[in-house]
Amino acid sequence: MTVLNVILFLSFWKRWKPSDFGQPAPLHQVVKAVNNRTSGCVDLVWNFGSVTPFPYVWLRDSCLCPDCFHPTTLSRSLRIDQLQVDIEPQSVQNDSAAQQLVVTWPDGHVSRYPHQWLRERSFAKRDVKARRKQLDGPKTVLWDRATMDRHLLHVDYDRLVGGDLATLHDALHHLIVYGLVLVRKAPTDFGAVEEIGETLGHVRPTHYGKTFRVASKVDANNLAYTANELAPHMDLTYYEYMPGVQMLHCISQHIGDGGESIFSDSFHVAEVIRARRPDLFHLLATVPFEFADIGEEAESRSRCRFHKIHERTMFCIDEDGNITQVATNNPVRSYRLNVPLELVKPMYEGLRMFNDLCRHPDNQLTFKMDNGDVAVFNNRRVTHGRLGFTVTEDSQRTLEGGYVDWDDIMCRYRIVTDLLRERP
Ligand code: OGA
Ligand code: ZN
Ligand code: ZN
Repeated sequence: MTVLNVILFLSFWKRWKPSDFGQPAPLHQVVKAVNNRTSGCVDLVWNFGSVTPFPYVWLRDSCLCPDCFHPTTLSRSLRIDQLQVDIEPQSVQNDSAAQQLVVTWPDGHVSRYPHQWLRERSFAKRDVKARRKQLDGPKTVLWDRATMDRHLLHVDYDRLVGGDLATLHDALHHLIVYGLVLVRKAPTDFGAVEEIGETLGHVRPTHYGKTFRVASKVDANNLAYTANELAPHMDLTYYEYMPGVQMLHCISQHIGDGGESIFSDSFHVAEVIRARRPDLFHLLATVPFEFADIGEEAESRSRCRFHKIHERTMFCIDEDGNITQVATNNPVRSYRLNVPLELVKPMYEGLRMFNDLCRHPDNQLTFKMDNGDVAVFNNRRVTHGRLGFTVTEDSQRTLEGGYVDWDDIMCRYRIVTDLLRERP
């Protein structure tokens, strides 16, 4: 267990906060509760003037008593087969002293809901939208090289893995907003990636092992394990649950020309494509490429054969048209292009435009990692790669890599944000 994990573990027992996301909302109070049988809702009139309806069935489903809500697992114990969908309250009362809404149901069951708790769960369109936005965490900032030159965050390895919450918060925040953070002064041994992974979330194993070593190898089973240039790409596009974040630790850098790391913000690049060639943007957001990885991994403890195949579009967009994920990887893009003939050329045009924009000097960040540097980046957003190098006897370039998923990173971000807010 890392130092940080001990801190987070102990803090869990402090108390359960009614706010799921830890955002302190201003204190709201209900001045009146109206049982509106016509709409099937309890309408709450608030001290700031608005009225928010809460449907009967939702209220019954959301009862917080120890029979309906399990107090130590913090989860609902009321089963759906115990719920009557057309239930109506027997009575509704606003307990202003306790700041609670009290609902009595026909079978005599009594439910109490703190005003603030209800406020945070209002069905008002604006509130629902804001809550859903909040799920994504802080807003992302798109970047080109000039922006990243100014904003690339460097964090100290010892501070990060040693339990310094402000450093961890900064690192997680930057990772969410910009998708790239550089950890410096890590020990130049294998193992630092695992320490960082367990600090940011949990290390996510793949068929290359819990972590993997990047060095030129004889009979390489991955192009990364050669000295070739690696064009901008995301890792493991042939996994349906493609890793969220990647760590690359420079244990020993190549001496001489080459070996520089390259990064670019594919969300920015995708927006440029959308603006200049909406037809190609649409194509890349709707027509998938197939990716495959077939081979054998002898170095990982599992010593497994692998045969992964997955089809995905290069761009994923949400219902509002925002880009949520980008995936590309030329070496493992399948030779099967499962598209109608007339789309073949435009698909290549799209690939080419994306690649050229990532590599454009205005967009591409290029730097040579020092021994002890660890690049941590959003593998669903920031393309990475490297310039080729020549293997010589006295220069063996060695990196260790690993992955962490966004679920665990966002989880840690919420907890650390709460802990820092609660500090005296
Ligand atoms: C990789 C990779 C980059 C490098 O292993 O996936 O992209 O700098 N490596 O070797
Ligand atoms: Zn109950
Ligand atoms: Zn890679």
